[in-house]
Amino acid sequence: MIAKLALLLLAVADLGAARLDKATHRELLLSGRPKVGLWKALNDEALAAALQTSSQTTFSPKPRFEAYCFDQPISHFDKTVNGTFCHRYWADASHYKEGGPIFLLDGGETSGEDRLPFLETGIAQILANATNGLAIVLEHRYYGESVPVKSFSTDDLRFLNNNEALEDSAYFIKNFQPPKSLLKLSNPDALKPKNAPWFYYGGSYAGARAAHMRVEYPDLVWGAIASSAVTHAQIDFPQYFDPIQEYADSDCISAIQTSVQVIDGLLSLPGPINRGIKGLFGLEALEDDDFAEVLTYPFGAWQGQNWNPGVSTDAWDNFCEAITSGGAGSQIGLIKIPAEINNYANWIKKHYVSLCPIDIVDCFGSHNDEAFLADDLEQSWRLWLFQVCTEWGYFMPAPEEGPSILSKRLTLEYTSKICKQAYPPGKHFTVPEWPNVADVNDRGDYDIEYSRLAFIDGDRDPWRTMTPQADWARKRKSSVDKPVHLIFDAIHHYDENGLENHDEEPARIRDVHELEVSFITEWVAQFHEAKGKQ
Ligand SMILES: *[C@@H]1O[C@H](CO)[C@@H](O)[C@H](O)[C@H]1NC(C)=O
Ligand SMILES: *[C@@H]1O[C@H](CO)[C@@H](O)[C@H](O)[C@H]1NC(C)=O
Repeated sequence: MIAKLALLLLAVADLGAARLDKATHRELLLSGRPKVGLWKALNDEALAAALQTSSQTTFSPKPRFEAYCFDQPISHFDKTVNGTFCHRYWADASHYKEGGPIFLLDGGETSGEDRLPFLETGIAQILANATNGLAIVLEHRYYGESVPVKSFSTDDLRFLNNNEALEDSAYFIKNFQPPKSLLKLSNPDALKPKNAPWFYYGGSYAGARAAHMRVEYPDLVWGAIASSAVTHAQIDFPQYFDPIQEYADSDCISAIQTSVQVIDGLLSLPGPINRGIKGLFGLEALEDDDFAEVLTYPFGAWQGQNWNPGVSTDAWDNFCEAITSGGAGSQIGLIKIPAEINNYANWIKKHYVSLCPIDIVDCFGSHNDEAFLADDLEQSWRLWLFQVCTEWGYFMPAPEEGPSILSKRLTLEYTSKICKQAYPPGKHFTVPEWPNVADVNDRGDYDIEYSRLAFIDGDRDPWRTMTPQADWARKRKSSVDKPVHLIFDAIHHYDENGLENHDEEPARIRDVHELEVSFITEWVAQFHEAKGKQ
């Protein structure tokens, strides 16, 4: 099982912002730091039971869009590989008038289906409606059904990288022709980037892609919106938890910090106490580091929160309420265990341990190297993790110093060891010793900027420290040409969602949508002006 899946947080919370289908829901249920073993072990029955106890989420009906196939080269760079794969996309032409702009929303590190709500009522719909545009969701290679290979082995994953993904989007923009069932054009070249402006939108990992696309393919991408764009990649990323500690309820944060500090002390004591504290959580059989990892499971729910109640989770608030609810403590030998630790233990038992239908070590342990070797196409957990291990980093250990909600047992070594366990060297590819984050950072890092490139962020997003709007990044002044906007009381790419009736969105969300419509409208006008001069 994967103890170090802190890294999957990016993927998981991106899902939190999309329609909550069953799979998404399961991930939220496991609160952002899921273990692969637990995912697989959860049978439908346990899932159904668990779903009933989670938040009052409303499920939206199946979206009305049909998936199309675009023939995409398996590799844009490896000349020894021929052939193409079906690169899935969805489109909405209902707002489109010939000559209008094209909005390409990058699906990022999940199935493109999870992004369809953004086509239906979210940012892609809003921008297309406002400008008579064509809105497209493009799935990311390897995710969903856009899979160019027969397995997810180390070798077969070698075409999953930034260069291939960037080139996919460029190749799509250059060669896209709409199927007749989607759109009949009187000028067959109406969608070519010389005839109509293409705008690129992405959130989170895909937000970084949006920025990179604008900078690296300015002739194809006329403008881009990079939302919660992690343009800075970093191997060691304990700062993820800073905004949670800063913005979450302070009683809750001190209860967690105190609990973790006491627990760390008890883990260092001799056998019976060490086993006793783990046993209180129903996790006696785990090694100390795996136990410490399970304690972090509830934290992913912070990022799963959304202004849109239809996709939000209230698991964070419920956890905080539970841990600070007082009550009696307990006793391990002669040691008195405070109430908050007792409450924490009950939460973990109820929400995670009880969902494990097999051996606890099989669900939550990380010390069996064999457990991570399955590489068939069902093992989609291997995808984002591979990107983490090769190019993006973002391991989330405890900080070296200062109060933390993470146990000191969570070291960089522990949180990154999965990279060696899951990806043994192949014939064609070897995962580097440490992720090559320079591949990301050399593309612009915190300082990335370009004409008609916008950065939108949320003030309390755990990922904001990895974006150009990090507190320690150069301060920017917003302009129509280079807009920057920080949404107040917002977490991860809050602008991407929208409601069917946009008037019902909270004011701060209507404001950011209005801002985006206003600069995009101006950028469309700039395109036609520039074209008129040619
Ligand atoms: C790719 O195509 C070329 C030319 O058609 C052919 O010579 C080569 O053997 C093919 N390579 C593979 C790996 O199929
Ligand atoms: C589309 O845009 C128009 C204004 O341009 C607005 O009146 C209308 O409410 C929008 N429709 C939707 C579904 O967003």
